Amino acid sequence: MNSQVPVCLSEVADETAHWQNILLEQHAEGISLLTINRPKVLNALNADTLAELDQALDLVAKATDIRVLLITGAGEKAFVAGADIAHMRQLSALEGKYFAEQGMAVFRKLENLPVPVIALVNGYALGGGCELAMSCDFMLAAENARFGQPEVNLGVTPGFGGSQRLTRLVGRGMAMELLTTGRMMNAEEAQQRGLVNHVYPQAELLGEGMKLAEQIATKSRTAVQLTKQLVQRGQDLDLENACVMESDVFGLSFSTPDREEGMAAFLEGRKPVFS
Ligand code: CAA
Repeated sequence: MNSQVPVCLSEVADETAHWQNILLEQHAEGISLLTINRPKVLNALNADTLAELDQALDLVAKATDIRVLLITGAGEKAFVAGADIAHMRQLSALEGKYFAEQGMAVFRKLENLPVPVIALVNGYALGGGCELAMSCDFMLAAENARFGQPEVNLGVTPGFGGSQRLTRLVGRGMAMELLTTGRMMNAEEAQQRGLVNHVYPQAELLGEGMKLAEQIATKSRTAVQLTKQLVQRGQDLDLENACVMESDVFGLSFSTPDREEGMAAFLEGRKPVFS
């Protein structure tokens, strides 16, 4: 299939049927749920799982019927307990570097998806699992969620961006503490430190994620996508250039039918119906 051709997720079941480790389902109109599905090893990420995740993200990127993506882990214990240690134990130094590059590329693709991505952290999010959650646009957590970068306990460093994204999210001092002790944070602390937006009882996590996703899915798709691009690209720019980019994108948004509809609806006192 041409990677540029838009698709409906409902029409590509044959492309997802052979996956062993990932589930991608349309959960409600405009909202898809991607589940890392290796509960016996707490959803640990090996190279095959990363390859399937990569394919799933390609589908999401071109799916016209996905406006928000939710990501979670199978079972009640873990979101993702890290990169697969049994897999990594067999790797040479060079293979370790390639494995890190594979994870980095997949997580970068996730970060750059056109649609917002919400991590529903339903248990352990350690090492590669914390790195996966940090590559989403924001996180909601269950009360049993645990976050950490325990690579130091295994005699290695983070490999899927943890030393960089954690530092940007919680600041250098706290990142250094977490990275050098391998200590786990509970959900409440992760929320206090700005890693997690909201914490819910585990049974309510998916429902609350759906409610938030539904709110986003009713907005202008184009405005949401442009906003994500601004936030993603702007965080690595200086303020001056980031604000120049924002004025450009603001102007661009004036060329869209959704701008016509949104402003007309406000002035006519009705709800907008976006394209
Ligand atoms: N890789 C492979 N297998 C894993 C795993 C991982 N990251 N995490 C858990 N498992 C497996 C266990 O080996 C165990 O398998 P068996 O039933 O066959 O023995 C099963 O999942 C259940 O795990 P536990 O029995 O250990 O469950 P627990 O409740 O006692 O402990 C835990 C839970 C604290 C999360 C513990 O499993 C743990 O510490 N896991 C490893 C966490 C970790 O170190 N993650 C970082 C990996 S390195 C990394 O991610 C590098 C990077 O940046 C890319």
